[in-house]
Amino acid sequence: MITVSKTASGEPLFHLRAGDASYAFSVFHGFLLHLYCGPAVADDDLEYLLVRVGHDSVVPRPSDTPEGWFSLDIAPQEYPAYGTGDYRPSALMLRHGEGSAVAQGSAAVSLRYVSHEIVPGKPSVDSQPAVYANDGEADTLIVTARDPSSGLTVRLYYTAMRALPAVIRRAVIDNTTPAPVTLERVYSASLDFAVMTEPAELLHLWGTWGRERHTERTPLAHGSVSVSSRRGASSHHHNPFAALVSASADETHGTAVGLSFIYAGNFEILADTDPFGSVRLMAGIEPTDFSWLLGPGEAFVTPEAVLSISGEGLGKMSRTFHRLYREHLCRGEWRDRERPVLVNNWEATYFRFDSDKLAAIAKDAADCGIEMLVMDDGWFGCRNDDRSSLGDWFVNEDKLPGGLAPLVQRVRSLGLKFGIWFEPEMISPRSELFDRHPDWALHTEGRPLSVARSQYVLDMTRSDVRDWLFGALSSVLSSAPIDYVKWDFNRNLTEAASLSLPPERQGEIQHRYVLGLYDLLERITRAFPHILLEGCSSGGGRFDPAMLYYSPQFWTSDDTDAMERLDIQLGTSFVYPPSSISCHVSASPNHQTGRATSFVTRGHVAMGGAFGYELDLTKLSDEEKDLIRQQVKDYHRYYALINRGDFYRLILPSDTVNGKTGSCAAWMTVSEDRSEALVTFVVIRGSIHPVYFLKLEGLDPDAVYEDEGTGARYGGSTLMHAGLNLAKNWRDGESAVIHLIKAPEEGL
Ligand code: DGJ
Repeated sequence: MITVSKTASGEPLFHLRAGDASYAFSVFHGFLLHLYCGPAVADDDLEYLLVRVGHDSVVPRPSDTPEGWFSLDIAPQEYPAYGTGDYRPSALMLRHGEGSAVAQGSAAVSLRYVSHEIVPGKPSVDSQPAVYANDGEADTLIVTARDPSSGLTVRLYYTAMRALPAVIRRAVIDNTTPAPVTLERVYSASLDFAVMTEPAELLHLWGTWGRERHTERTPLAHGSVSVSSRRGASSHHHNPFAALVSASADETHGTAVGLSFIYAGNFEILADTDPFGSVRLMAGIEPTDFSWLLGPGEAFVTPEAVLSISGEGLGKMSRTFHRLYREHLCRGEWRDRERPVLVNNWEATYFRFDSDKLAAIAKDAADCGIEMLVMDDGWFGCRNDDRSSLGDWFVNEDKLPGGLAPLVQRVRSLGLKFGIWFEPEMISPRSELFDRHPDWALHTEGRPLSVARSQYVLDMTRSDVRDWLFGALSSVLSSAPIDYVKWDFNRNLTEAASLSLPPERQGEIQHRYVLGLYDLLERITRAFPHILLEGCSSGGGRFDPAMLYYSPQFWTSDDTDAMERLDIQLGTSFVYPPSSISCHVSASPNHQTGRATSFVTRGHVAMGGAFGYELDLTKLSDEEKDLIRQQVKDYHRYYALINRGDFYRLILPSDTVNGKTGSCAAWMTVSEDRSEALVTFVVIRGSIHPVYFLKLEGLDPDAVYEDEGTGARYGGSTLMHAGLNLAKNWRDGESAVIHLIKAPEEGL
């Protein structure tokens, strides 16, 4: 619901209610001033929250604003523009072109409110991933502001979800001036928390290859704290997410405002603290290698930024993201369909496989109840290692005699679905494609091209390259009944220039690359709607909301070690729903860490997300195959609970439990009606006489729950306040899964 009232001076005050959160701002002398973002508050005249104290005599103010306290440098703003007295980081920075009413080459912009409109639901966004919502599920406020001197217009979109405390923002820059403008920085959202009532921290997800999305909390200091990517992809190193949290906030208490950016490319999320303690939180395309020439009459639409607002800690912030992304971002036939349990041959064979080997794995897979075989890298061109053939998307008949169809037929005759790996955006210098089209690689004329994994990146800004890719992929996908595609991306962009654009537009390349990627993904998902698309980027190097719009699940990390996965999967869960977190049981000792972990624990950890296997089934013992049969059964039994339940992090590996840090981890999912729950507890480092009282969350306090394994019964309130008693001498890597079912009324 969005209400518009009038301030004392008769200007509009907007109060967006999203679920149990409020977001408010008002117009003051034409400026859009942020008032509040947090747990729901009454429809009061929230303009009283403006701090009307002049802080600094050297700070200028716009000449048509009242003398006294007002200055853009301290005013809490909604979309600060550069050059007219706000010296903090700006959301908008541009240069006016020839023919402008203001000096050519100048940068100043001053945005003033013009009008607003409220529409039911959420207007759709063209050619970019975006949250979707029907009328009745959301309301959208569109505020138009203009720079009176140049005539430039900015539209700010705010969608308030009705059932979720989430506000989705984006900006549209309309060049309503007679001259071109060059955009140099266009952020999607910015909001100023005027005064933090408690010390605040920025929680974010850092990592690297094989070590993605580890949590870190950084205290805010005066100046900026930011996370970003300049790699051409959202990256392993920082995820396009950060949360402003009160220092005392934990999973269940305290304020947390999560900001997640729906973009697969360069991004920045920044928290800037000014000398008066006001914090500006913003998200947008990282500006280092960004500029955009916007002709008169043209519009630039930013990616979306999502705010998840919680007054009840980090757990609730995450559950809001989970629900929003699961139900209002992921799309397609597989959004709600039960995903097949798959076996992927990467860690089973790497590049050394042929049809017979894959058929043998498929035979054992069928025998164990696994439902799909995924053929990974190495099936095309002459690719027997990672040094050639990307771009040569035709079958290597030395490995797969007769092509794809006979192999797919063999696999399907065993009752399994078939999936295949591609890395569409890449080209190997040793490939037929590169021999024919060396200019298709993204490159800078006159400069040597950097290599990574012996490959270059295709110029996705070019429509001829995308058309060719669409044809090449389509012909493979039409050549046999294929149910799944793993879309990999194994290196970042360098020397990003393109012959397709004139010199003054070279700053557009990185963003146009991402738009080109979206275009290809959209065409493929439309042409093959039955295909389950799984995103991948050397593991989870592009695990972001934009990719989830096309692929409802993403390969989480190339580190498949169950203990390492605890940090990775639980870190990922801060933003992304379990249904999107692809997790496989792999071999022991693990290929990445050499650590041995029991089959049971590997299964328990992998069941934290989209479940599968990644090992040579033909080498397993009968006992291990029996365990797979049981795991597959369990996974189907708990599918709805794991994938549609509410997710609670109970213990992170970084937590200190009874004096020991890094000793265990635990999480649980609870069905929406709270009638059942699944608790997973993993001991990383066993010790003697450990005491683990595991306090649960999200249960019905008045209900009685039965532990299905032991038959023990507990009150919901007991489980949440006193906890499960898990004291025993746990071994390294041991784990337990506890299924709790609401008992019939008769009680304890
Ligand atoms: C990186 C992926 O993360 C792996 O799972 C595998 O598909 C390899 N690429 C293949 O080259």
